[in-house]
Amino acid sequence: MAACDFASREFDDAVRAAGRRAFEETLAAGLSVFYLDDEGLDRPGGLSHIHYNRTTVPGKTFYIETFGCQMNAHDSEKVVGTLLSEGYAQVATPEDAGLVLYNTCSIRDKAEQKVFNRLQNFKREGMKGKIFGVLGCVAQQEGERIFNRAPHVSLVAGSASYTHLGEMLVQLESGNRRVTGLSFDNAEAFDTPFTRRDNPHRAYLTIIEGCDKSCAYCVVPFTRGPERSRTSESVMAEARGLAEKGYTEVQLLGQNVNSYRDPSPAGWDFATLLGRVAEIPGMRRVRYTTSHPRDFVRGIVDAMDANPAICDHIHLPVQSGSSRVLAAMDRLYTREEYMRRIEWIRNAKRRYSLTTDIIVGFPGETDADFQQTLDLLDEIQYDSLFSFKYSPRPNTAALRMEDRVPDEEKQRRLLILQEKQRAIQIRRNAELIGGIQEVLVEGRNQALGQWIGRTTCNRTLNFSHPGTNGNDLAGEYLSVRVTRAGPNSLVGESAAVV
Ligand code: 5AD
Ligand code: SF4
Repeated sequence: MAACDFASREFDDAVRAAGRRAFEETLAAGLSVFYLDDEGLDRPGGLSHIHYNRTTVPGKTFYIETFGCQMNAHDSEKVVGTLLSEGYAQVATPEDAGLVLYNTCSIRDKAEQKVFNRLQNFKREGMKGKIFGVLGCVAQQEGERIFNRAPHVSLVAGSASYTHLGEMLVQLESGNRRVTGLSFDNAEAFDTPFTRRDNPHRAYLTIIEGCDKSCAYCVVPFTRGPERSRTSESVMAEARGLAEKGYTEVQLLGQNVNSYRDPSPAGWDFATLLGRVAEIPGMRRVRYTTSHPRDFVRGIVDAMDANPAICDHIHLPVQSGSSRVLAAMDRLYTREEYMRRIEWIRNAKRRYSLTTDIIVGFPGETDADFQQTLDLLDEIQYDSLFSFKYSPRPNTAALRMEDRVPDEEKQRRLLILQEKQRAIQIRRNAELIGGIQEVLVEGRNQALGQWIGRTTCNRTLNFSHPGTNGNDLAGEYLSVRVTRAGPNSLVGESAAVV
């Protein structure tokens, strides 16, 4: 499809060229951008708070590499904490480790292949004599088949089994080379007091695990099992503990946080929990991810309006702008029902930044369906989106659907979608120039002498702050005036401490 849906092609070419220049400048300057990588993760780049242990205790050292979503990143924080509490020391390379763990993702085929590429490295000198473990979604999906495919692997465990991690470690230590944790018979979410968080200011907090939906493309219900909500009491205790430790931002996590249901007699729903966490003294920012539009009720917007600590950002994955495709995906809402939720958000007391996920090339998606997705982008003007080519996944309903879209066509649609969104983001970010944003400072780009901040809307804002005399601003909240804007990040100058 040509760019004929744009109001003026000349204007858009100019915006595109300006955007590309700004983006290239940003990259040339080595700035950390809010970078949407292939797996849909934001990578603030160059900021690591992990303290590796340099001393090597034979057999009691571990290395872990994590792929996938925030849920996986946070699972790794819990796994790391558990290992540290068992007397293991974390090291920075697989070569230095006695135990090498990969916490894997299988959301798309490409993500899954990554772990098998890593496992190929077994053959390398320096990797011999180590114990290898595959954790997470590929482990759950492939199960014991991994032992055949990669005979050096000794541990295969899905996230629903991490409550038994201690016992699995004991088995490994006693020489068992075929240890598995693959059952879903655990009714509880994995909760540990030992979580070792990577970021000292921004904390992930799981409220619900698993997923009870059955989106036709999605492997998650098979890899993470049925929904398990934590009690409101344990969530609140953890959130209060985080505030006491000095965390000022918390991100509530779940595959579908909107279907959170407190299993204790208090019976809180998600909106109640969100509001209560935001009321904890010291909590300056509360975020949540991810939402399912079907369960996104008006009460969530009301709770957000009522609590200034809840960030001005809503991630509401739409997947497609065509009701026909949404029905085939088994998403349980139509385009119109999705738009009703957008209206609630637009009519709210505050202005919320909106982001989404989109899949192109789902089986049976026609050009007309795809055009409806493009029209939706025009209508909603998202601040950012994650876009993916449909990838067939094991066990899912879509695997059996006919009318596959050829890969070249998926690629073509993806590029058109991304180009359109890029122009939207350039325009939307440019609207912020001259205004003031509050940022939580995440770190510093030494080479540039710039600080890296994040706005309440989840945008990266890199800024200069004269006269800090080497003081570490990380963790502080500052007012920053936006001076430049690219499609994926902003640049500015600090105004004053908020
Ligand atoms: N193919 C492509 N994208 C997918 N997603 C989930 N499953 C698939 C798949 N099989 C995308 C959805 C989801 C995001 C996390 O990943 O857009 O919201
Ligand atoms: Fe990947 Fe989904 Fe598993 Fe997260 S839950 S790691 S996105 S497959």
